[in-house]
Amino acid sequence: MSERFLNRISFGSPANTGNLLSPSSALSLLEEWVPNERLRLHMKQVSAVMKAWAIEKEGADELTARKWEQAGLLHDADWEKFPEAHCRIIIEELEKRNIDPDVIQCIASHGPAHFGVEPVTKMDKMIYAIDELSGFVHAAALIRPNRYSDLEVKSVMKRLKTPAFAAQVNREEIADALGRAGLTHEELIGFIIEHQKDVS
Ligand SMILES: [Fe+2]
Repeated sequence: MSERFLNRISFGSPANTGNLLSPSSALSLLEEWVPNERLRLHMKQVSAVMKAWAIEKEGADELTARKWEQAGLLHDADWEKFPEAHCRIIIEELEKRNIDPDVIQCIASHGPAHFGVEPVTKMDKMIYAIDELSGFVHAAALIRPNRYSDLEVKSVMKRLKTPAFAAQVNREEIADALGRAGLTHEELIGFIIEHQKDVS
């Protein structure tokens, strides 16, 4: 059992449904907690892909899309300063700030093998699937002279089958996450390339 296991299944309070940080407060939290620009970019990319998925694939209303976006933006906010206690610290912070329970539960679900929380809702399942795959797609773009502009799904697929490339990315976890979300690698990789290529 990972020492990061949260050992709980309930997050936030239903009384806080609909409460989110304002976009500027969410960004200042990120800037304050995450000095590493590359890690901030990762969270912004996951956030953009989550929001786009909610709107395009789930037909989400504005508030729901903002929840998906905010969960993506803050999911690793405590990683840099509190690696041993990731993601307990950000969860407790958002509970203290009375944030919507769906957002907190989603963040708690982004790594079932690491935090011991099973993704339940579609939002939970998608953050799990998008998280590592987004980082992987970005790594695959960075080594190309033209970055995202001519990056194709098949080239990312080839990298996935090359164990030495981005070796720290767990291919089994990606496959597990996609299985839970009912998606193929190709489907989600194509969507991620499209929606994170212009995020800065
Ligand atoms: Fe992440």
